[in-house]
Amino acid sequence: KILILDFGSQYTQLIARRIREIGVYCEIYSCDCSADEVKNFAPNGIILSGGPETVTSSDTPRAPQIVFELGVPVLGICYGMQTMAEQLGGKVESSDHREFGYAQIRARGHSKLLLNIEDHASPEGFGLLDVWMSHGDRVVELPTGFKLIASSDGAPIAGIADEDKHFYALQFHPEVTHTKQGGRILSRFVLEICGCQALWNASNIIEDSISAVREKVGGDQVILGLSGGVDSSVVAALLHRAIGEQLTCVFVDTGLLRLHEGDQVMAMFAQHMGIKVIRVDAEARYMAALAGVSDPEQKRKIIGGLFVEIFDEEAGKLTDAKWLAQGTIYPDVIESAGAKSGKAHLIKSHHNVGGLPENMKLKLVEPLRELFKDEVRKLGLELGLPADMIHRHPFPGPGLGVRILGEVKKQYADLLRQADAIFIEELYRHDLYHKVSQAFAVFLPVKSVGVMGDGRKYDYVVAIRAVETIDFMTARWAHLPYDFLDLISRRIINEVPGISRVTYDISGKPPATIEWE
Ligand code: XMP
Repeated sequence: KILILDFGSQYTQLIARRIREIGVYCEIYSCDCSADEVKNFAPNGIILSGGPETVTSSDTPRAPQIVFELGVPVLGICYGMQTMAEQLGGKVESSDHREFGYAQIRARGHSKLLLNIEDHASPEGFGLLDVWMSHGDRVVELPTGFKLIASSDGAPIAGIADEDKHFYALQFHPEVTHTKQGGRILSRFVLEICGCQALWNASNIIEDSISAVREKVGGDQVILGLSGGVDSSVVAALLHRAIGEQLTCVFVDTGLLRLHEGDQVMAMFAQHMGIKVIRVDAEARYMAALAGVSDPEQKRKIIGGLFVEIFDEEAGKLTDAKWLAQGTIYPDVIESAGAKSGKAHLIKSHHNVGGLPENMKLKLVEPLRELFKDEVRKLGLELGLPADMIHRHPFPGPGLGVRILGEVKKQYADLLRQADAIFIEELYRHDLYHKVSQAFAVFLPVKSVGVMGDGRKYDYVVAIRAVETIDFMTARWAHLPYDFLDLISRRIINEVPGISRVTYDISGKPPATIEWE
């Protein structure tokens, strides 16, 4: 297994995902972790990430010295290269020229890391690689024992190695897809240089989790809040396989779900998979709690709070439940660790419906705690969950509550559900669903005039939103074909009595958020 030390790069998680894709387990620790933490992890190799700071200042982070004393291979990337060079006696300088984006490097010196990896061969006999650079500082003097293994026009020292000690460092980013051979470089490092075996795959992860869960909970009863989202669904399928009848799921139908969603969840998990699911029809309670409330934050709090209350009531009825299962995934763990150590970059923490109070006196079982979202998806498919469910767009915890502007009413939710279902159905039918990252309808409680036949209508408005994004932090509105938008508009106005106008949201994020509230 590989340890990744995080110096604050936006790409650190990407490094981890690449290593896992190669089939090798890895974890991310903060760069200020202790020597004991590094030792106890017992890595077969260590990767030092990039980061926003400069090693030319003395109060910026360094790698714990133990990294260079454990006798395992080390790969420094960008800032990781600079701190490795500086800590081992080389020299780094700041330059006012920032190199950002595409660069071509020349691989030199026949290093084990880059040997025979190239995009183009050069007449001079060394490999040329197309890579992604993002740095201001650069290494200007090699530490003793190191040789040059790569150079570019912007960075004459773009790669260095001390091959006796298996220390390697690269100025460019092998983890981003713009570095075409990046996957091969990382795989060369973890499989050949560190000697790791590629055993990290969906079926092994499932086997391991099943035995870990069985050992942890023994014969106890476990309770899980099932939302129908990817994470809780995968936990349900996994726990069902591990402990069968000892698992009870609680599914709260808030009345703020999509069309037929409650029935679909029950059909899938209870009828089809034979999992014990308690369905709580809480629509009336939600509508009563939300009556007269129009402030978005207050709505979120009420929706989240009521979920906890209802879940608590149901859990109380299952007197012998000792464990609470949760769909926490690795990015949640890293982000909350980052938040605690004060190193968190700007990451929005959503008040999720899954957040439960600590006074529940149940012990936690979190089988996805070490997994990235793409791994959770692979697990889900391997566990037999339908691909449509695994690749469904994200749906916010507060559901339609944040898509009905202002006060929430059952009438509004019913209209919105119908309009949304038409939009999604047509996206699938036109093969557009997976080309956008998230798509939905929003209910606007304003009335506008329309003419239908001979009469005037005075009905509500629905906005359609579809975005393309990688990380949901920034997004562009999807440029859906006009003919398609035309079809959506006509179908919604004709088929949903009560809606007389449809608009398309053409706002990017930033400044607009993806949801309207
Ligand atoms: P925004 O609206 O902040 O949304 O651009 C970014 C992503 O987060 C989802 N979202 C939420 N998810 N609880 C959630 O679980 C929430 O309160 C919430 N608000 C927004 C949104 O759907 C999008 O995918």
